[in-house]
Amino acid sequence: MIIGGSASQNLTAKIAELLNDEVCPIEIKKFPDGEKYIRIKGKIEEEMILIQSTGYPQDENLMELLFLISNLKDLGAKKIKVVVPYFGYGRQEKRFKNGEAISAKIISNLIEIAGATEFFSLNLHEDSLKDFFSIPAHNLSAMPVITEHIKENTENPIIVSPDKGGLGFTTEIANILKCESTYLSKVRISPDKVETRIVNMINNKSKVDISLVEGKEVILVDDIISTGGTIVNATKIVKKHGAKSVDVYCVHPVLVNDAVLKIYGAGVRNIIGTDTLTSDVSHISVANIITNKILEKEN
Ligand code: R5P
Repeated sequence: MIIGGSASQNLTAKIAELLNDEVCPIEIKKFPDGEKYIRIKGKIEEEMILIQSTGYPQDENLMELLFLISNLKDLGAKKIKVVVPYFGYGRQEKRFKNGEAISAKIISNLIEIAGATEFFSLNLHEDSLKDFFSIPAHNLSAMPVITEHIKENTENPIIVSPDKGGLGFTTEIANILKCESTYLSKVRISPDKVETRIVNMINNKSKVDISLVEGKEVILVDDIISTGGTIVNATKIVKKHGAKSVDVYCVHPVLVNDAVLKIYGAGVRNIIGTDTLTSDVSHISVANIITNKILEKEN
């Protein structure tokens, strides 16, 4: 039996269909003072799969997730597989400055204490987030479905990472598509301001040849698009160096405020995200990836 929190209803329905399983009916509402009310109306089975992303509004979605896990446990579920397709607060996985809360660790602990017996997510900002759990934790990758989409929709692509952190994704995709890839260098000045440069020399060796983008369909790939600043900067650079077109792919379309508008305004042709978060650009589904992993563990 599958339960979907309010942030992941569409994805839950797709996974239920693939698993040929039922979606457990729930009631979620808010009291006049803003507190959440959760009621599980369906039958509780020994094994339950719960799907809920913790994107905006993060705190509400998180409380809902914790209420659902804990309630499932109280009501008799023995195995609670918790799928958090987008793991909010995942970018604070360490103490960057003295005294900061390690939010990702706190949330991982809460999920486990609430009663999760296995945890699944996609493209966690750092793979090491898995280590905050003592239950089995899986960090799945949406790159296979993103790669498939790129393959079907582009003829002469070059895969570009807007920062060094995304190099793993772009190399993985370029290897499968047998095309070129390159990357840019990004420095975050503040939560909503980044500076992007071309990496010319590392240890006196030229690592990046930006002229590779000339005349090509540039595919920018990032794990998250939040304010859109990273993508806007990268788009400006590759366009300046002769990119024929720019398409943007991301796993998690967080898309704060006018991010979509800013990105199209910079000259991007398409923005394509997955459905780890529900958005206007969530065109690729990760339902198969999650389903396959759940089935793999069961067989
Ligand atoms: C950070 O390193 C991530 O990979 C993304 O590049 C970042 O979260 C994007 O943020 P924004 O859209 O606000 O520039």
